[in-house]
Amino acid sequence: MRPLATLRDRGSLRQLLARWLSGPLIALIAASLGASYFIALYVANDAYDAALLDPALAIANHVRRHGGHVELDLPAIAIDALRVDTRDRIFYQVQGPDGIIVAGNAPIPAPPKWLPAPQHLFYNAELEGEPIRVAGQFVSIQGQTVLVQVAETVVKRTTLVKEILFASALPALVIAIAALTLSWYGIDRSLAPLERLRKEIDSRSPRDLHAMTEAGIPMEVRPVVRALNQLLARLKAAIEGEQRFIANAAHQLRTPLAGLKTHAELARREPSSPQMRSLLDMIAEETERTSHLINQLLTLARAERGAGPEAGRQPLNLHEIATRAVQEWVPRALARNIDLGFELEDTWILGDPLLLRELLANLLDNALAYTQAGGAVTVRTHSADGRSVLEVQDNGPGIPPAERGRVFERFYRVPGTSPQGCGLGLAIVAEIAERYGAKVELKEGADGTGTCARVLFASLAQDAAYTGQSVTPVPSAPR
Ligand SMILES: Nc1ncnc2c1ncn2[C@@H]1O[C@H](COP(=O)(O)OP(=O)(O)OP(=O)(O)O)[C@@H](O)[C@H]1O
Ligand SMILES: [Mg+2]
Repeated sequence: MRPLATLRDRGSLRQLLARWLSGPLIALIAASLGASYFIALYVANDAYDAALLDPALAIANHVRRHGGHVELDLPAIAIDALRVDTRDRIFYQVQGPDGIIVAGNAPIPAPPKWLPAPQHLFYNAELEGEPIRVAGQFVSIQGQTVLVQVAETVVKRTTLVKEILFASALPALVIAIAALTLSWYGIDRSLAPLERLRKEIDSRSPRDLHAMTEAGIPMEVRPVVRALNQLLARLKAAIEGEQRFIANAAHQLRTPLAGLKTHAELARREPSSPQMRSLLDMIAEETERTSHLINQLLTLARAERGAGPEAGRQPLNLHEIATRAVQEWVPRALARNIDLGFELEDTWILGDPLLLRELLANLLDNALAYTQAGGAVTVRTHSADGRSVLEVQDNGPGIPPAERGRVFERFYRVPGTSPQGCGLGLAIVAEIAERYGAKVELKEGADGTGTCARVLFASLAQDAAYTGQSVTPVPSAPR
């Protein structure tokens, strides 16, 4: 794979395209201007040369031989009439066979070659440092060749060449600028699907490994999406393999642990020395802790598995989930002399009842485990600001603000916390919440003491819009 730095060095696609386009475009325009120049020159000469030859022919008609000399038999007024031009100055010259200038008003340079009469030629020359165009007509006077030259400055020719050049350069320039502008904005439009793809990747949770959609992606980018999807599939398989391994390992450990627990219980019933009893008590306690750890690991693996926005969702009333927890948790609260209260309102979300129960169980477990005897724990469910809220509040020791981020880490426990627990409960809560796009907040209680753990879910209406499902809340079970 090409290192990223090399790609960055090449700048943006826009710059790349502009660079690639502008060079050849400038070269093309220059070449077309060069060609246009020669065409314009040919056109200008073709148009004006014929007109330049006319006075040369008229003068040639009046060249005579008189007494052994060649002379021009044309009155000055007629010559002036032939030289009329509004934009250029016109010169003429008649040269006899022996090179003697017979008539003329300027020393027009000789032609590059002499031709037999009555041929003519056109050529470029300079007169007093100024460029001129010359028409040379060869005439035969009694067997001898005389050259009649008519020349003009090149003002109108240069003007015509410039006009032709301008007329051909203007559209070329407009086309070049339009091509650059269109490609500049065209890139934006062509990259729009990539931008959508970036947003989709950005908005994904790291647990969401389902394939990206190829719809709306340009053909050229599809191989990249396909490769990304293959990578996601491989990643998903690898993670699922790991999760399966943890789940299987935890499952395998459950049976021998249950056996160990039973045997420890049976051994405690047998008559034994106080030391032996205390050792057996420790074995029972540690077996209990280990089986709790294994249960937590299994729950975590279950919470992680099959994560995706649509995985395991059904309409749930948080009120109902909390009501079902009463039976399980009231005895434990009573045992610890904790006042467990419920303030429940109907509020609907989309989720998996088993996982939601696990989430609440872990919050309740913490509240009941860390609140001192005689304390109070309250479970609340309600809707607020279009969200469904599940709250577990206690008046226990609270979690110091500096620790509130860390307690969601796996196996992290606030130093000094009682030894029961393995540090996975809040990690499980965070995992389940993330699966449903819910937010978990840890704060102190309303009176500034204890802990208030609040989970904010997208309520059913929003959630249904998100997943595209059409759901009707089912009435809550009678309580
Ligand atoms: N309600 C609470 N009051 C005070 N401290 C709490 C409360 N809830 C959590 N904590 C602190 O956060 C730590 C992490 O809690 P978490 O539930 O993740 O793990 P745990 O309770 O130690 O173990 P587990 O829940 O896996 O049995 C706890 O060890 C405890 O120090
Ligand atoms: Mg816990």
